[in-house]
Amino acid sequence: MAKKLYIKTYGCQMNVYDSTRMADVLASLGYVLCDGAETADMVILNTCHIREKAAEKVFSELGRLRPFKERRKKAGGRMILAVAGCVAQAQGEEFLRRAPFVDMVFGPQTYHTLPAMVGRIMDGEGHVLETDFPPESKFDYLPETPGLDGSTAFLTVQEGCDRFCTFCVVPYTRGAEFSRPVAAVAAEARSLVRAGAREITLLGQNVNAYHGAAPDGATWRLGRLIRELAEIDGLDRLRYTTSHPADMDDELISAHRDVPGLMPFLHLPVQSGSDRVLAAMNRRHRADDYRRLAGRLREARPDLALSSDFIVGFPGESETDFQATLDLVADVGFAQAYSFQYSPRPGTPAAAMDCQVPDAVKGERLARLQALLNEQQKAFNQRSVGQVMAVLFERSGKHAGQMVGRSPYMQAVHAPLPRDAFGAIVAVRIQAAHANSLAGFPAHHDGAAPTPIERACA
Ligand code: SAH
Ligand code: SF4
Ligand code: F3S
Repeated sequence: MAKKLYIKTYGCQMNVYDSTRMADVLASLGYVLCDGAETADMVILNTCHIREKAAEKVFSELGRLRPFKERRKKAGGRMILAVAGCVAQAQGEEFLRRAPFVDMVFGPQTYHTLPAMVGRIMDGEGHVLETDFPPESKFDYLPETPGLDGSTAFLTVQEGCDRFCTFCVVPYTRGAEFSRPVAAVAAEARSLVRAGAREITLLGQNVNAYHGAAPDGATWRLGRLIRELAEIDGLDRLRYTTSHPADMDDELISAHRDVPGLMPFLHLPVQSGSDRVLAAMNRRHRADDYRRLAGRLREARPDLALSSDFIVGFPGESETDFQATLDLVADVGFAQAYSFQYSPRPGTPAAAMDCQVPDAVKGERLARLQALLNEQQKAFNQRSVGQVMAVLFERSGKHAGQMVGRSPYMQAVHAPLPRDAFGAIVAVRIQAAHANSLAGFPAHHDGAAPTPIERACA
């Protein structure tokens, strides 16, 4: 009989990808995904360590799950409770100490060993803790055919990070940088397309540091990989995330010019506009390098929309430094962005720096930055009104007869369409812009002469 598996995923898209791969591995043991923890035979919390109090949140979620587990036990059943992901990697031992009712704690590099871990629990081993970085790559052992839900998919091509930005935990939780070989990536992309994917987002903690072994004996960087994947029949759209500005090479920039399927939207975190702060963050580029890079990317692909991450209140950030960030935002112009107050992460160099910025100052700066970023996002969405965009529809909307998809620029687009538009790329004329989404009609319905995009989509 099928066993029920519930996975709750926190954090970045790499964790989303890892959760699908854990489900793939566990399918071989008869586990089938379900929607709730209450009656599940196994519950996995796939955790993220990037923000403050991450561990506390996991402990409180475990506290919420404990009665379900106990109820199952009383009824003669069993629920296996597991903590995976970056908090597990960073604080594994602490889980076994503070929450001994947890069965398994394991880090992101160990997911291929899940069947063995489950076997140990079933054989009566009280707890399993796996937070070593095993010498073999999990990717060599994960099932070849990934599960796919819908027409968009994630594909991890690179993992770990060697950049050691002074605020960041990722190099400690995900380990050293590692790129998957080109052939393995291409095989997974083809199998995703066979399963129905029309869009694939290539993932990595620092994805443009990609340097995978290629069949021709050379090492390929991300731009070359993208050109290769763009040749796959039926793969209409490619994206990649997250990139580091200092790893943006000529080959990748020219891919934005030459590969039509590479979508004109790029998440390129800058973190700060102050050279002093960028140096203290160990980002290894200056604010003007970023401005120049944005210019070169837009030369290659004039409609490219940029997104970014910002940290305000990094230790030692002065009002002048913060002003430099606002200046950079004004100069570059972003379609969308994420911004955060600096939060000290234990074990990172910045946590031990002098001149931590008071919370009140961080909060006030964040509000000013977000006001500017929101204004830019609104203006960007407003400029979409009247345009015809190729939208890939992914799910039904809130209202009957409505579908929601993504524009090439990652905007959510609502349009009146039947359910069979699921997975279709439809030319949509944008009629209204809201704060976080656009609304439009299939372009052929509005009586206007077809534009080139409409003809291409027809
Ligand atoms: N690999 C990506 C980002 C990983 S974390 C990159 O290099 O850009 C995602 C974002 O969280 C970061 O870009 C940063 O803006 C934010 N972040 C990471 N550590 C943080 C910290 N200690 N405090 C506040 N924000 C942080
Ligand atoms: Fe973290 Fe990204 Fe810096 Fe790597 S490049 S240390 S993942 S912020
Ligand atoms: Fe979080 Fe780990 Fe991703 S810390 S952002 S889940 S790499």
